Amino acid sequence: MKKPDIAILGVTGAVGQELLAILEERKFPFASLKLLASGRSAGKEQKFMGKTYKIEEATPDSFEGIDLVFASAGGSISKALAPYAVKAGAVVVDNTSAFRMDPEVPLVIPEINPEDIAKHKGIIANPNCSTIIALVPLWPIHKAVKIKRFVAVTYQAASGAGAKAMEELRIQARDFLAGRPVQKNVLPHQIAFNVFSHNSGIGPDGYNEEETKMIKETKKIFHDSDIRISATCVRVPVLRAHSEALHIETEKPITPDDARVLLAKAPGVKIVDDRERNYFPMPLETTGQDDIHVGRLRVDSSVTNGLAMFVSGDQIRKGAATNAVQIAEVLFKDWRLA
Ligand SMILES: NC(=O)c1ccc[n+]([C@@H]2O[C@H](COP(=O)([O-])OP(=O)(O)OC[C@H]3O[C@@H](n4cnc5c(N)ncnc54)[C@H](OP(=O)(O)O)[C@@H]3O)[C@@H](O)[C@H]2O)c1
Repeated sequence: MKKPDIAILGVTGAVGQELLAILEERKFPFASLKLLASGRSAGKEQKFMGKTYKIEEATPDSFEGIDLVFASAGGSISKALAPYAVKAGAVVVDNTSAFRMDPEVPLVIPEINPEDIAKHKGIIANPNCSTIIALVPLWPIHKAVKIKRFVAVTYQAASGAGAKAMEELRIQARDFLAGRPVQKNVLPHQIAFNVFSHNSGIGPDGYNEEETKMIKETKKIFHDSDIRISATCVRVPVLRAHSEALHIETEKPITPDDARVLLAKAPGVKIVDDRERNYFPMPLETTGQDDIHVGRLRVDSSVTNGLAMFVSGDQIRKGAATNAVQIAEVLFKDWRLA
């Protein structure tokens, strides 16, 4: 079977740039590569694997002859352009929130529900980054003792809001330390030396969109509509990699040691849990990594069968680009078997 012709929609962004790195790193096979972004980037050059590519403006006609699209240009662009890509015969692996809750669209973390990939009708959605970082370590526990409920509190990096927000943190930190006035252009509040509630819209129930995504997407990925979740999502002045405090309540009891044994063999998870050295998951150490680091495993005695943990993961990699490429690897394997 021939290697796929690929397009990356949103190639100049934080996720798009990481997609390129991961395609090279994982030696993902492709016959040709088309790099798409907005009209602002059209004509700019992008070096990749020894070749220079010209970035093109994404239009409905961009997908003729394309087999696989990695989309990360924002939800409205995916909504507008993905149907054209599907019509042209491509499969779209979409990093945006545009189709995640569409019942016709599989929402996939390959460590959890790879079997859903085969149900696609042209679009496969990549879950929200905070959801992926929580669920990769929670899944082995859910399978073993069933999680009835969990509470997540996130510590989300600036880069979760895109390449420009990451740059804003750098500039604000420099200006703040130099005693210059701090400018806000991307995020709604000063991110340098500050912490604020996630910069997504607040719904009528008081939950912001990021929190609501974690709640709804978990039910879909776990195929468990009964699991109860609450979340508080927060931006912190970290350049890259999200961290989360997770408090879970399980149906059957599980000790922290049992959880450590389960998680030690779970794909995509690394235990970083050294109480003697007070050494636990940190975003500086998960930056550039695919594994979700898990530590602070301890009993949560505020509920029956409670377990607490602290996790950290690179949301541009496993929370977006790596997860998308892993989906495509399953898809491409199926194509080869077809
Ligand atoms: N950052 C993360 O950690 C993360 C994690 C998971 C999911 N996501 C999701 O992935 C998507 C992209 O995020 P990001 O962080 O990579 O954002 P970003 O750094 O702001 O990049 C946005 C990309 O979209 C392109 N774009 C903007 N308007 C466009 C248009 N009208 N037509 C075509 N392309 C257009 C931009 O091209 P120009 O450079 O030409 O403007 C750029 O390549 C978002 O939906 C986000 O929610 C992000």
